[in-house]
Amino acid sequence: MTTTLAEAAATTAAAATTPAHSGAPGAEAAGSAACAARISHVSKSFPGPAGSQLVLDDISLDIAPGEFVTLLGASGCGKSTLLNLVAGLDAPSRGRIDTDGRPALMFQEHALFPWLTAGKNVELALRLRGVPRSERRERAEELLELVRLKDAHGKRVHELSGGMRQRVSMARALAQESRLLLMDEPFAALDAITRDVLHDELTRIWRETRLSVLFVTHNVREAVRLAERVVLLSSRPGRIAREWTVDIPQPRRIEDAAVAELSVEITGELREEIRRHARH
Ligand SMILES: Nc1ncnc2c1ncn2[C@@H]1O[C@H](COP(=O)(O)OP(=O)(O)O)[C@@H](O)[C@H]1O
Ligand SMILES: [Mg+2]
Repeated sequence: MTTTLAEAAATTAAAATTPAHSGAPGAEAAGSAACAARISHVSKSFPGPAGSQLVLDDISLDIAPGEFVTLLGASGCGKSTLLNLVAGLDAPSRGRIDTDGRPALMFQEHALFPWLTAGKNVELALRLRGVPRSERRERAEELLELVRLKDAHGKRVHELSGGMRQRVSMARALAQESRLLLMDEPFAALDAITRDVLHDELTRIWRETRLSVLFVTHNVREAVRLAERVVLLSSRPGRIAREWTVDIPQPRRIEDAAVAELSVEITGELREEIRRHARH
């Protein structure tokens, strides 16, 4: 019964693709060989008390295969809205989004099923992908090893720390074997030391798997620490204000002088964006 519920929830989330999104299995993404995701002239409005509210305005962004992009912006600027559109959980009001297959998702809240063990949470993702029962346990163990949680297979969610839960979430996202991983402030609720460790882990896993990653954050240092490219969104409406290529060699430390220097520059730009917005 509980497994049926879990399956239903996961299937609903996975099936919520829309006509303006071509990431469903079997759908050939336009230019999929060259792009993990292509966001073309996407706008999004929501109905509000004072009429329609334009949240995203004419966003165009390509993510190359294997590229790590961070999407940076102030709270409420539309980062999660854009990520949900790329995930196919909602439809753009205008424009279109093509992804190379269906992306995997990871949120700030772990969204693990508490009645299942860490291992079973990962196995469920494998089962939904059609991996035969005989292979699931071994594959789940490999994935937990990849996130350095080899001994947590039999542990329930409440027995795990916040950092460990996010590691399991990462293993579960990787179980989907998507070519694109979408991450919405996945470490924002963690303490600074745990976050720092998970930055290292994410960088290592990204370099090992060569996945494309679109990582949303409001934390400038985190954006620079992780990304090959930082894309800054303005607020109300969200537009691409500027982007930076980060050519600081990996592995980086968040306290590296080069990370700090670029963060200062980006923070200046972000402040300017917020000031500009406050004048309107
Ligand atoms: N489903 C929705 N209906 C109405 N407004 C929404 C909806 N989702 C988001 N918004 C609005 O869109 C704006 C951007 O939200 P969000 O994408 O969550 O920002 P961020 O993730 O950058 O903090 C906010 O003003 C929010 O209130
Ligand atoms: Mg958000």
